[in-house]
Parts: sequence; C-alpha cells; structure tokens
Amino acid sequence: MNAAYSTDGQYIHPSILNADFMDIGTELDKISTADSVHVDIMDNHFVPNLTFGTSMVEQIVRRSAIPVDAHLMIEDADREAPAYAEAGASSVTFHLEAATAPIKLARDLRRKNVEVGVALRPATPIEPLLDVIGEFDMLLLMTVEPGFGGQSFLETMLPKIRRARRAISDANLEVSIQVDGGVSRETIERCAEAGANVFVAGSAIYRAQDAADEISALRELARTHTAH
Ligand code: DX5
Ligand code: ZN
Repeated sequence: MNAAYSTDGQYIHPSILNADFMDIGTELDKISTADSVHVDIMDNHFVPNLTFGTSMVEQIVRRSAIPVDAHLMIEDADREAPAYAEAGASSVTFHLEAATAPIKLARDLRRKNVEVGVALRPATPIEPLLDVIGEFDMLLLMTVEPGFGGQSFLETMLPKIRRARRAISDANLEVSIQVDGGVSRETIERCAEAGANVFVAGSAIYRAQDAADEISALRELARTHTAH
C-alpha cells in the first residue's frame, strides 16, 4: 500500500515509539483510522536510543491496516535505508546528516517504489537542500531533537517550516512537509499554518483517552488551519 502523499492533503501519522511493544497488535489497531503509522528506527549511534530493525518493520507491515512510514534515525543511511523499502515500508525517510550521497540514495529508493523523505535535525538549515528538494517526496523537519518521544515542541522551527513551504511552492514542486516532535492539539495549528501537511504525533495520540478521537481532532485542526 503506498502512502501517495499529495500536498493538497493533510495526513496524521501516529508514532508508535511510546506504544506498548509487548502488545503491538492492539496498539496498531488503536490507530487504524490514521493515514500511516510512523515507525522510528534508532541505532543508538545517530541518536542516543535504540529501537529495532527490518524484521520488526516487516511484522508491523503485515499487521498494520495502514501504510508504514519509516523514519530512520541511523548512521550510514546510504547502506541501510534500501532494506526498509524491501521490508515493505510505504515511505522511507533518512536523515540528511547521515547520508553521504543523498540524491543517489533517493533515486535508488524511488526505484524500489517507495515515497522518499529527507529529514533534518532542528539545527540543520534547509537552504543547502532547496536546489535538490524535487528529488524527494517529503521533507521531514524535526521539531524536537530526535531520539525520544514526549519532548516539547520547538517553536523556533516555525520560520523554518514557512521558508521551506515558500521555496517548494515557488519552485512549483509537490513536496510534502512532515513535522515530528511535540505535535499536539496545542501546536498542530501553527504547524499547518506555516505549511506542514504531514503530522507525526506520538505521545499526543497514545496518551489520549481514545486514540481514534485524538486522530480526528488533530486532523480537523490541521484541515481548518491549512496554509493552502
Ligand atoms: C523522536 C521521534 C518521534 C517521536 C515523536 O525522535 O522521531 O517520531 O515518537 O513523539 P512525540 O509526538 O511524543 O513528540
Ligand atoms: Zn519520528
């Protein structure tokens, strides 16, 4: 199943980072009304935390009712990322800081029929990417330092989202902007107004009384505050 992002759409991607891994099937069922499940891959080198690899992703793909959006927070993306496309993820996002030849990697991944995302840590500027942004389907702007769920949204990322959206529109490109980190009912509207259209939310959804209600509420806020 392909995620098929369109910059006209608003997408909610719950992150399972803080879900109960002992009961992952039930945790996936709770978010089946979302657009994709966001799966955080961490190697304890690129970020100070460790999750899992391709075999767990394959199992999640088999069990999930919705597409899998893989966010790789791992070193040596050039060598490691293609395996996540082969594991069945619908979109694969690697960090620019972890790739040596990001354009070649993006093209290799596209040939494997996945949507390709490029991610930036909060302190990495977007400007060096703008000339080549058309190589990607999605730009992931981290709104916390990557590594852990439940951190506070970095307000200082809003101008960066705005600049990225403006540059993408000026170039007449169809590139989605995903925000990840501290996205909640309190922050999603500002992200949408700034030009984001794919919203990752981990603790906001898994700590809510009812995950499906939270997904609808976030979707509604994003739709009514869209920049388009
Ligand atoms: C952090 C991860 C996020 C995380 C978001 O490095 O990339 O996807 O799960 O969690 P919240 O929404 O709780 O900030
Ligand atoms: Zn993530």
